[in-house]
Amino acid sequence: MSRILAVTLFAFAGLTTACGGGSKGGGGSDANAEAVAEANKVWTERCVTCHGNSGKGDGPGAAALAVKPRSFSDPNWQASVDDARIKSVIVGGGASVGLNEAMAANPDLEGKDAVLNELVTKIRKLSQ
Ligand code: HEC
Repeated sequence: MSRILAVTLFAFAGLTTACGGGSKGGGGSDANAEAVAEANKVWTERCVTCHGNSGKGDGPGAAALAVKPRSFSDPNWQASVDDARIKSVIVGGGASVGLNEAMAANPDLEGKDAVLNELVTKIRKLSQ
């Protein structure tokens, strides 16, 4: 199911860049489309369980956690963290920045800046 979604999103992103893409760049837009697709896949498969689809911290897995994930829609929280901090929480896990260890590390995303940027963009959009 989520694979179908990811494929659909990938196709859609590809279409968008095909229409909007300028004459410049050798595959830069495609690379970004891939990053968007991978970020969507990561979000759906790894994050929604705890953070919930809309990032309110109400995913099915959150009920069992001693420390609940905060709501990403909180404007005060959004203002209090910079993008680098969000990325290090994602890669290193909660314990790496003094948060609860229930927030798992994602070491496979280390160095995948395009994917991390898309995850940050996603989290920032959840503030609306
Ligand atoms: C097993 C449940 C769980 C999963 C899966 C999970 N998180 Fe978390 N996350 C948490 C908890 C709990 C916290 C809050 C920790 C705290 O406040 O001490 C947290 C905190 C965070 C924070 C920091 C918020 C703050 O207070 O600064 C970010 C950003 C975040 N998660 C993003 C993600 C992303 C992106 C994913 C998927 C790659 C993910 N999380 C997967 C449980 C989870």
